[in-house]
Amino acid sequence: MKEDLKGILIEEAEIQSICRDLGAQLTKDYQDKPLVCVGILKGSVMFMADLIKHIDTQLSIDFMDVSSYHGGTESTGEVQILKDLSSSIEGKDVLIVEDILETGTTLKSITELLRARKVNSIEIVTLLDKPNRRKADIEAKYVGKKIPDEFVVGYGLDYDEHYRNLPYIGYLKEEIYSN
Ligand code: IMP
Ligand code: MG
Repeated sequence: MKEDLKGILIEEAEIQSICRDLGAQLTKDYQDKPLVCVGILKGSVMFMADLIKHIDTQLSIDFMDVSSYHGGTESTGEVQILKDLSSSIEGKDVLIVEDILETGTTLKSITELLRARKVNSIEIVTLLDKPNRRKADIEAKYVGKKIPDEFVVGYGLDYDEHYRNLPYIGYLKEEIYSN
């Protein structure tokens, strides 16, 4: 699999150090709050697993799977729920856990959808952020690393459902796309 990459963007050790730093910050910010970490499937699975080990407070986790409706080439910004949360989040402090924030259309819709469930607060933590690609009016309060506008895979992130199992994040070779 490694031979399909043209380079590594974030090594395993750096990912772990990002998780430690974000975890420490979240531990401070969510002391004595009923935190629910909501992972967006499937890309956030590895990040969720590593991040919560470093959040030292009472928390619960839940997952949601959505698909974006794409009208033509632009995302319409609406999402269809493929798998909903398994418990109510009313009155809870919700932290959406995402692998990457790009145009922001998906996260914008998810945030609005969950906010409508009478949460006490809602914030986003994303491992990666491509700020140059943003279209929707949304930012993550907690960002692991800002990256340039290039397609990356590994550590949960996929190309056509592949490469999620790489323990680091890398750039895919162009010839893989064109095959
Ligand atoms: P957006 O912010 O609504 O444009 O969508 C973000 C979603 O697009 C992420 O949750 C990923 O599933 C996917 N995505 C965006 N950039 C990349 C990338 O570089 N590699 C893999 N998936 C990506
Ligand atoms: Mg995703």
